[in-house]
Amino acid sequence: MTEWSAQDCNRIVVVQGDITRENVDAIVNAANRSLLGGGGVDGAIHRAAGPGLLEECRQLGGCDTGQAKITRGYQLPAEWVIHTVGPVWRGGTHGEADLLASCYRNSLALAVGKGVRRIAFPAISTGVYRFPLERATRIAVRSVLRFLSAEPRIEEVRFVCFDSRTYTVYREVVDEFCSEPCP
Ligand code: APR
Repeated sequence: MTEWSAQDCNRIVVVQGDITRENVDAIVNAANRSLLGGGGVDGAIHRAAGPGLLEECRQLGGCDTGQAKITRGYQLPAEWVIHTVGPVWRGGTHGEADLLASCYRNSLALAVGKGVRRIAFPAISTGVYRFPLERATRIAVRSVLRFLSAEPRIEEVRFVCFDSRTYTVYREVVDEFCSEPCP
């Protein structure tokens, strides 16, 4: 018996693309603890949202690793941006797995609080923060499925993969977690 149902699996979508173009209620940003922007998806989101995003982020006083904070989406199609800070990979013995799982859980909890129905995630920590992709993907998919199994208000979670390698790994992991033979 898995911890989630086929219906929960049906609420997960894996796509390859640019998260700044996602027409969803909220997109999640893989930020750093300052919340003042950076490279990677953080840079892309700030460029697409415009200066208002940084202005609001400046008021937030930063964010601890594993935590999440929410702002408006400004010029993005998404109404909200949820900024979460993933762990930097330091070999796997510094609580990185739990911190990454917390990023997904805390982001989803914030989303539910704002009435978000459809949310898009990037592959948090798998770029500059060097978290091994396969491990990070398993943590991401497991955390989201567990959350969805207990929270019917989230209709769709979209994993937006920027490159084909990430897309392939996400597809494989979702298929593995969601191909439980029907009893
Ligand atoms: N849309 C979706 N995914 C993207 C986009 C985009 N426009 N741009 C990059 N990505 C992907 C990367 O290819 C990677 O798969 O997001 C994933 C996360 O990589 P990073 O953006 O490097 O984030 P992370 O590894 O969590 O490192 C965070 O990087 O950009 C800085 O300010 C950020 O200091 C923080 C650190």
